[in-house]
Amino acid sequence: MDDPLARYFSLVEAEWPQTNIANLRFSLETLFEGVTLGGSRVLDVGAGDGRQSFYAASAGAVRVVALEPEAAGSSGGVRAKFESIANRLGDESVEVRSDTFQDYEPGGERFDVILLNAAVNHLDEEACTSLHRDSGARDTYRQLFAKLADMSADGSKLVVADCARRNLFAQLPVRNPLAPTIEWEKHQQPRLWCELLTEAGFADPHLRWTSLNTLRTPGRVLTGNRVAAWFLRSTFRLTMTRRAAGTFSAGG
Ligand SMILES: C[S@@+](CC[C@H](N)C(=O)[O-])C[C@H]1O[C@@H](n2cnc3c(N)ncnc32)[C@H](O)[C@@H]1O
Repeated sequence: MDDPLARYFSLVEAEWPQTNIANLRFSLETLFEGVTLGGSRVLDVGAGDGRQSFYAASAGAVRVVALEPEAAGSSGGVRAKFESIANRLGDESVEVRSDTFQDYEPGGERFDVILLNAAVNHLDEEACTSLHRDSGARDTYRQLFAKLADMSADGSKLVVADCARRNLFAQLPVRNPLAPTIEWEKHQQPRLWCELLTEAGFADPHLRWTSLNTLRTPGRVLTGNRVAAWFLRSTFRLTMTRRAAGTFSAGG
C-alpha cells in the first residue's frame, strides 16, 4: 500500500478498533480544511496519541513536532501509544517530545501550521478558568500566545479547536450525554481566544461551530452554528493566520 493516507487509516483501524474510520476521516478533513499540509512544518501542541500528527504527516507534512507531556487533560499511556504507532508507520518526519509547550525550546525553528486540538485550555487550566475576569490570567495566556507567535512562520496557519464554555448542560445539574467528561468552567468562548491571539499577532479569524461527525455534510448545514452547538457539544474550530513581521505592533 503506497498511499500514505490509506496506510494511516488502515493503521488507525488496527490500533483503535473502536474508531469509526469514516467519522475520523470527516473530522480530520474538516479540522484541516483550508490548511495546506503538503510540504509544511507542523507543531501539534498537546498531541495526545498522535491521531492528528500522523494524519498531517500522511497528508504530506515534511516535519511534525508533537508535544505530549502527559499533563492536564491527558489519558494515561498516550505517549507510549504514540511511539508504538510511530514505529509501525516508520515515519521519521514525526517527532514526539515530552516537553510542555512552556518548556519547549524550538531553537529558532518556525512552523507553517500550529495545531491545538482540545489543548488550548489545558496549557494552564487555572488561568483558563478565570481568563474572562482576571487580568493576571490574561497575562499568563498573553505570554503563551507570544511564544506561539514567535515560532510561527509569517503567513502560517494556527488551528485552535476546543469546547466553548457556554453550553446548555453547563447550567443544568446533569451531564451532557454527548460530552459527559467536559468541565465547562475550564473552557473559554472562541471570541476570547480570538481577542488574545489577535493581540499576539494573528489575524484573519475564521470560526466554525463544529457539527456531529456522524451527520457529515448535512450535519454541518443543520448543526454547524452557535445555537445548535449550545445544545450539543459547543465545539468550535478557530483558524487564524500569522501576520507578517513588520505589519504588526504590540496591541495593534
Ligand atoms: C484533551 S487532550 C487532547 C489530545 C489530542 N490533541 C487530541 O485531540 O486527541 C489534551 C492534551 O494536552 C496535553 N497538555 C496538557 N498541558 C500541556 C502543556 N502545558 N503543553 C503541552 N501539552 C499539554 C495533555 O498531555 C493532553 O494529552
